Amino acid sequence: MQEWWKEEIVYQIYPKSFKDSNHDGIGDIQGIIEKLDYLEDLGVTMLWICPVYQSPMDDNGYDISDYYQIHPDFGTMEDIDELIQKAKERHIKIIMDLVINHTSDEHAWFQEALKNPDSPYRNYYIFKEGKNDQPPTNWRSVFSGSVWEKVPHEDNMYYFHSFSKKQPDLNWENPQMREDIYRMINWWLDKGIAGFRVDAINFIKKDQSWQDGPVDGADGLSSCFEFARNQPGIEVFFKELREKTFDVHQCMTVAEAVGVPYHQLDIFIGEKGCFSMMFDFNYSHIDITEHEEWFPLQNWTMQEYKDKLFLSQKEIFKTGWCGVFLENHDMQRSLNRLIRNPQERTPKVAKALGQLFMFLKGTPFIYQGEEIGTINNHRLSINDFDDLNSHAQYRRALQEGYSEEEALDFVNRRSRDNTRSPMSWNNQRYAGFSDTKPWLANNEYYKEINVAGEINDSDSVLSYYKQMIALRQNPLYHQTFVYGDFTPLDSEEYVIAYIRQDKQNQILCIQNLQNKTTSFPLEHYSKVLLSNDDIHIYDHQIQLSPYQSMIILL
Ligand code: NOJ
Repeated sequence: MQEWWKEEIVYQIYPKSFKDSNHDGIGDIQGIIEKLDYLEDLGVTMLWICPVYQSPMDDNGYDISDYYQIHPDFGTMEDIDELIQKAKERHIKIIMDLVINHTSDEHAWFQEALKNPDSPYRNYYIFKEGKNDQPPTNWRSVFSGSVWEKVPHEDNMYYFHSFSKKQPDLNWENPQMREDIYRMINWWLDKGIAGFRVDAINFIKKDQSWQDGPVDGADGLSSCFEFARNQPGIEVFFKELREKTFDVHQCMTVAEAVGVPYHQLDIFIGEKGCFSMMFDFNYSHIDITEHEEWFPLQNWTMQEYKDKLFLSQKEIFKTGWCGVFLENHDMQRSLNRLIRNPQERTPKVAKALGQLFMFLKGTPFIYQGEEIGTINNHRLSINDFDDLNSHAQYRRALQEGYSEEEALDFVNRRSRDNTRSPMSWNNQRYAGFSDTKPWLANNEYYKEINVAGEINDSDSVLSYYKQMIALRQNPLYHQTFVYGDFTPLDSEEYVIAYIRQDKQNQILCIQNLQNKTTSFPLEHYSKVLLSNDDIHIYDHQIQLSPYQSMIILL
């Protein structure tokens, strides 16, 4: 079925690191407005703005203390209105981040709940008595340590947090709390935003039996995922959420939901599902453990990655729709994640990886800096990291018996700060992100990898992204790329090839993800639509140079 949101090309902005307009070293909403021309020129049609709400910034804004206010570091509500308006003038829609599994512990509701145990706000959160001088259960939070935090000045009383202790989970069992959340969602939609990316939404239902799980780490705890994620009954909350908010506004929603088994997709997407689309992390989490630990290193192969990617495409479209993405603010850069040899993290490879994702079935999401081929920063000390999860993972790795050197290596590889370093706009001081020292160190390669150096270079990664977007949007092929079938092709391990096809077109997308020349059979073709290298097709074969990617109209 045709839907407007299937046709969007989304660009994800991490505002703190995108562009600083007011000389404080922190990116802001006016900075995004300054760059709207750049985004329009790139060709994207929608922006996902990571949280800019009032927040003590324990988790960089994913800890909201007031849903109706903008954090002064980012600007004001007028700035948001201006952004929505100015983006609209350029035919760019805005989706905001919706964080409704938890609030900040500094939110007025939580403060009231702490101050007055008899207040109705007590039941907006999950408070429980401990047992035998221990927390109520032995579950480990996502950012490590217990999910339970002791309530100050109360005997044997704890509150629940799936993420950091400054992010208490909301109690979705409470209808009054849910109504307050729906009011807030509708208030934002009334402003004229196009929808939301919905944070950690598969955590909103907890197993109500509150039993201990099997210990699975040196910390003596048990991952909370078994009890606090993808729980039966969550679909009841989803249905009400959709009916009272998203349906009313016909908005676009994309669910962030890690670890959803494919047989549960129908509560998330498709006709009965709550959201327009979801992100499938089953292939993107190939480098971390099932419990989202960054250690030990995972030994994955390209064949496994390809199989997971193809499986994802097969399963998702049986039920509904997904957003496809190569990078986001919770991962390291894709060139580091997917390419083992540092020498091979080149612009050509960035183009091939970008292409692999841009033409999959689904709505493409591009993460800031991906379009210029940014690579990870290397940090020499744990003190150089900002991300709270990097610190948590470092501590856990030490606890599990790894050396400081090993623990730092895990964090360097997987840290979320890799994608949160300020955007590299040019090769000037502070990479044109700010004229003062940024809140987080600039990417160490900004002199070589930056927007200004690529924008007028027809061979750059940025130019390739523009060409890919233009090709996807070309009326001759648009329907095929958006709605056409996806068919994976058999090939050697490092070649990923698939066909997108409808009644009009049959288009081959092929990527040779290795430092070796190879070939691929091709019986007939009409035209090469895009390639990141010279084209050699003869004897019913395509010859692919190392890391060559091509889009071929058959
Ligand atoms: C997922 C977000 O993407 C991540 O950045 C955040 O830390 C957690 N949810 C908690 O809100």
